[in-house]
Amino acid sequence: MTDSRGAQHQRSLDEPDSFWLEQADRLDWIETPTRAGDWSFEEQDFHIRWFEDGVLNVSANCIDRHLASRGDTIAIIWEPDDPQAEPLRFTYRELHAEVCRFANVLKAEGVKKGDRVTVYMPMIPEAAFALLACARIGAIHSVVFGGFSADALAGRMADCGSAFVITADEGRRGGKRVPLKACIDEAAGIFPGIEKVLVVRATGGAVTMQPGRDIWYHEAAAGVSADCPPEPMKAEDPLFILYTSGSTGKPKGVVHTSGGYLLWASLTFATTFGYRAPEVFWCTADIGWVTGHSYIVYGPLACGATTLMFEGVPNWPTPARIWQVVDRHRVATLYTAPTALRSLMKEGDDPVKATSRDSLRLLGTVGEPINPEAWRWYHDVVGDGRSPIVDTWWQTETGGHMITPFPDTPTKPGSATLPFYGVEPRLLDGDGHELHGATEGNLVIARAWPGMMRGVWGDEQRFFDTYFRTFPGVYTTGDGARRDEDGYYWITGRVDDVINVSGHRMGTAEVESALVLHHDVAEAAVVGMPHDVKGQGIYAYVTLNSGIEPNDALRKALRDWVRREIGPIATPDAVQFAPGLPKTRSGKIMRRILRKIAEGEIAALGDTSTLADPAVVDDLVKNRVG
Ligand code: WTA
Repeated sequence: MTDSRGAQHQRSLDEPDSFWLEQADRLDWIETPTRAGDWSFEEQDFHIRWFEDGVLNVSANCIDRHLASRGDTIAIIWEPDDPQAEPLRFTYRELHAEVCRFANVLKAEGVKKGDRVTVYMPMIPEAAFALLACARIGAIHSVVFGGFSADALAGRMADCGSAFVITADEGRRGGKRVPLKACIDEAAGIFPGIEKVLVVRATGGAVTMQPGRDIWYHEAAAGVSADCPPEPMKAEDPLFILYTSGSTGKPKGVVHTSGGYLLWASLTFATTFGYRAPEVFWCTADIGWVTGHSYIVYGPLACGATTLMFEGVPNWPTPARIWQVVDRHRVATLYTAPTALRSLMKEGDDPVKATSRDSLRLLGTVGEPINPEAWRWYHDVVGDGRSPIVDTWWQTETGGHMITPFPDTPTKPGSATLPFYGVEPRLLDGDGHELHGATEGNLVIARAWPGMMRGVWGDEQRFFDTYFRTFPGVYTTGDGARRDEDGYYWITGRVDDVINVSGHRMGTAEVESALVLHHDVAEAAVVGMPHDVKGQGIYAYVTLNSGIEPNDALRKALRDWVRREIGPIATPDAVQFAPGLPKTRSGKIMRRILRKIAEGEIAALGDTSTLADPAVVDDLVKNRVG
């Protein structure tokens, strides 16, 4: 089978037009495309278009076309946070009715094709309905993770000019309540452009409703029809925006399209996981991340699969919860993050062994490099040595898997193995020269693929500058990788100023901006540090304003400050007060040195002779935290 994979891959590169037009048959088109990719990464002629003359509707592809053959198949299983509460199940027919009702509510509230609708939701079925309802009427959804702060939410809404937000009263996670509606109220104080708030009642917790602005979903949905015709959309019409952290400035609104993205989500889902109906597929991500978009909602539903949505966290109320859910719903494929595995691994094998897991056929990971110990534990203990592991490398920008095993690809612990169809990875040195054979370098992709992002919302120039300028003619991933003698890829991590905390991307610049907003802070520099569960932790160097006393109370206050400004995932793990930061004579902070100190690699600081004041380093080393 690996040979047939190799042959198919070769064909996808040699005859891209016929390959991709054949693949496009996976989708139901209102108008079948006659053209595949049309693109150039060169600055003077920069454009990326796929299936340009095709017309389709994403929600019809995820729902309507399955109705005749599998209307009574379960589309979504919902497992609540509380293990004592009842799971919910929605057949494709029921999903159709729910999504149509949701879409009709959006229409009745004035949402139109092309409008940006923000979704700030807990992991409840309505979150999936909301996405599909937007797709049905051609509105562009922008999901903001429920763990982000009011500030972060307001910033994202303002950036894409989103006046409409869908939320819930509260969310539930690990037995705790997460106030979502209250956060929107706060965000409305920051971004006055919020015109309507559609609120799903999830917990029944108390919220204040502002007349004229806030609408209860259940009231609005009471009178609407359960039928809503899908809007015909051009393949290149945007399906969604998803904000992600970069190495500079504020988060970028990554734009994905209707045709190319859906094809990519559907094809990678079917191929990487070798999905076989009527298996249950479980991706443990939150819908607020791209993994949730592609592998809870769009990929599985486009394939007519049964997708499990979990409201809770893997280790609550006990470390066995994740495996109990696998048994309860007879999950065949489990797709999770290395950070979750590392934290569960710490609890030992007993919670795992107390469950059966005999339904598991395949295991998947995503989000960060998986260390071989975690890989082996996943394989030997969780999978009883029976289930292959697919370690899938991809990004928000790529829409879906890029380098990944298929179920029958021979694997090596820690390697994402081989490129997916149509993907042409290359490794470049720092000057942009291609490196051949077994080597290590900057991972770039040499040609366009259907699922790739089409732009940064509202900033065409930033799209080109971020991904196509450093190394002309190719897409720059921001990751480093090694290629071994078998042509297998091993992702080594980010080569830019993005850190990966528990599989979530965090721009160091974002955390720095939050820190310097604090009135006691003069300057801040943030780098990643090794963390045994999170993969990377956040290490912040902070220079205080003169006259401010560094102490533990202030350290705590600064951590809380960042938590409030961005969200809990951005909370620094270590804060070191630094009278000065290492700078070159031109004033540029030497992050390389800060990284080494945070990593504890004091002996390997390298050349410090270009520093304006080399003594700064001695102080930093002496007062290292942790
Ligand atoms: C990292 C998540 C190693 C990588 C889908 C990438 C990985 C960033 C893997 C994207 C993997 C993701 N092995 N590293 N299997 N998967 N990454 O946009 O650094 O949240 O650039 O997308 O996560 O994170 P994002």
